[in-house]
Amino acid sequence: MPRSTHSIRIVQEPLSGSADLVDLYLRAYQPLGDYYYRHRTEVKAYLKWLRHRDPHGSFIAYDGDRPVGFIATDSRWDHGTVGAIHELVVDPGYQGRGLGRALLLRGMAYLRSRGCRVCELWVGERNDRARAIYRGLGFQENGRWGKWIQMVRSLEDLPEGIDLEAALVGSSPSIPGSSEDP
Ligand SMILES: CC(C)(COP(=O)(O)OP(=O)(O)OC[C@H]1O[C@@H](n2cnc3c(N)ncnc32)[C@H](O)[C@@H]1OP(=O)(O)O)[C@@H](O)C(=O)NCCC(=O)NCCS
Repeated sequence: MPRSTHSIRIVQEPLSGSADLVDLYLRAYQPLGDYYYRHRTEVKAYLKWLRHRDPHGSFIAYDGDRPVGFIATDSRWDHGTVGAIHELVVDPGYQGRGLGRALLLRGMAYLRSRGCRVCELWVGERNDRARAIYRGLGFQENGRWGKWIQMVRSLEDLPEGIDLEAALVGSSPSIPGSSEDP
């Protein structure tokens, strides 16, 4: 049976190459077609790269023991003044309830705590959903490279006191194929 979003906790934790995280990544990107690594070995290597970039910069959302989203940031991206958000994924069964936004706020707060003044990310031009969340949080387009759009945001004016309970909307995510879910 699906749990309430109130059971979700966000934990600062290095990304492992566990099957759970690989599956989560593939599930989240599956609808987007060409914007993701398709093979498990590629995803594992990518998660390892993210972990090495900044072992303290990743945050995983858990529902019970099950990871349902994560963000990977990088406080050493550009001489320590520009932080990067390399990855953000939310399990499709938990999307649209504020979890992506909560992870982003947590990641940005981390980058600021590490002394970064600006954060940047790259998003696919056809990834309307991700672009909407970034725009909604004050990111602005800063350039393009092929199908990728660079977005940036100052870290000087983040909302204080990020409250996951307040950031999450709704109370019972629908989980496709939930027979195997908690
Ligand atoms: C992008 C992603 C992380 C968003 O996660 P999420 O938990 O659904 O996001 P939220 O519920 O926090 O939504 C925040 C904002 O996203 C936008 N959004 C959410 N659901 C949306 C939908 N169905 N259609 C369009 N925009 C939507 C809205 O702007 C929303 O703001 P609002 O609160 O004012 O409505 C998730 O869709 C995902 O994992 N996508 C696949 C991986 C990906 O594209 N990552 C980004 C790579 S750059």
